[in-house]
Amino acid sequence: MGPPMNPVAGPGLVGVSDERTARSDEVDDVAGVAERTQPAPGTTAAVQAEALVKHYGGRSGTVEAVRGVDLRVEAGEIFGFLGPNGAGKSTTVRMLTTLLSITSGTARVAGVDVAREPDAARRRIGVALQEAGLDPRQTGRELLVLQGRLFGLSVHEASERAGQLLALVELEDAADRRIKGYSGGMKRRLDLASALVHEPDVLFLDEPTTGLDPVSRLTVWEELQRINGRGTTVFLTTQYLEEADHLCDRLAIIDGGLIVREGTPAQLKADLRERRGLGSDPTLDDVFLDATGRTRDRVAGDVQEVSA
Ligand SMILES: Nc1ncnc2c1ncn2[C@@H]1O[C@H](COP(=O)(O)OP(=O)(O)O)[C@@H](O)[C@H]1O
Ligand SMILES: [Mg+2]
Repeated sequence: MGPPMNPVAGPGLVGVSDERTARSDEVDDVAGVAERTQPAPGTTAAVQAEALVKHYGGRSGTVEAVRGVDLRVEAGEIFGFLGPNGAGKSTTVRMLTTLLSITSGTARVAGVDVAREPDAARRRIGVALQEAGLDPRQTGRELLVLQGRLFGLSVHEASERAGQLLALVELEDAADRRIKGYSGGMKRRLDLASALVHEPDVLFLDEPTTGLDPVSRLTVWEELQRINGRGTTVFLTTQYLEEADHLCDRLAIIDGGLIVREGTPAQLKADLRERRGLGSDPTLDDVFLDATGRTRDRVAGDVQEVSA
């Protein structure tokens, strides 16, 4: 459904503005990327990363932010990427979405190598980052129409698409008001809609609900489920374990740049239950604490709202 897509080739047209891509202090070392191929098990993965590494270079030395991450997300999944602050979540998402160069390893989105074919990869992905780059003087509808035009839609197609997306994120009533007057939750939902203008196969969200009140958070959850129900694969990072438990088909926990657990929420709980010989299933909080070696006290300092 929706209009035919004819996205303009070029950087920055993913519902991602260029100022968000600039990182002066990254180590630009895309050379030495080794091609590692696995026998394709049937379908093309929505996201596939192999031995993904990111080193940031700075005056105070090199930060090994991501130290060898392997990921496979199947088409149609909602995949959760959890970890404490500084674990490497945003760095991984930025590499997967072409916003940051890859130090070593490979990443494919919808079968497209993000380092070799960034423009093609960008056409397959939508990105909503925490720091939404919305122009406060525009209305929600204007923003979406402009975004559609940037992706090569006609005026008519762009306006039709904007209407569909405004309905999808339940912003029809506010559509013709300036973004300046939107609440945090409304801005987040508009940013979600703008990431969907070009009908991406995979939607990446970096902490889509951080800082939202509980009602807005539930609304975003519903919208993500609706978007996923229409066939879009969703890759989200979150610090909220309740969110991961509720939304995600599968999840990975990253700590110190390495994946320390991976599975469905039920599998991860069952594994811990068996390992500890518990009488009933632990919570995802318990799994997270076990995986990251953190205590509840430290978590309270490190991670917001870890206890659901
Ligand atoms: N631009 C940067 N330059 C140097 N270090 C960075 C930069 N961005 C992130 N880091 C460091 O990389 C590590 C992972 O950060 P990040 O991916 O933002 O973690 P998360 O999103 O899980 O909180 C942290 O130690 C962080 O301080
Ligand atoms: Mg982050």
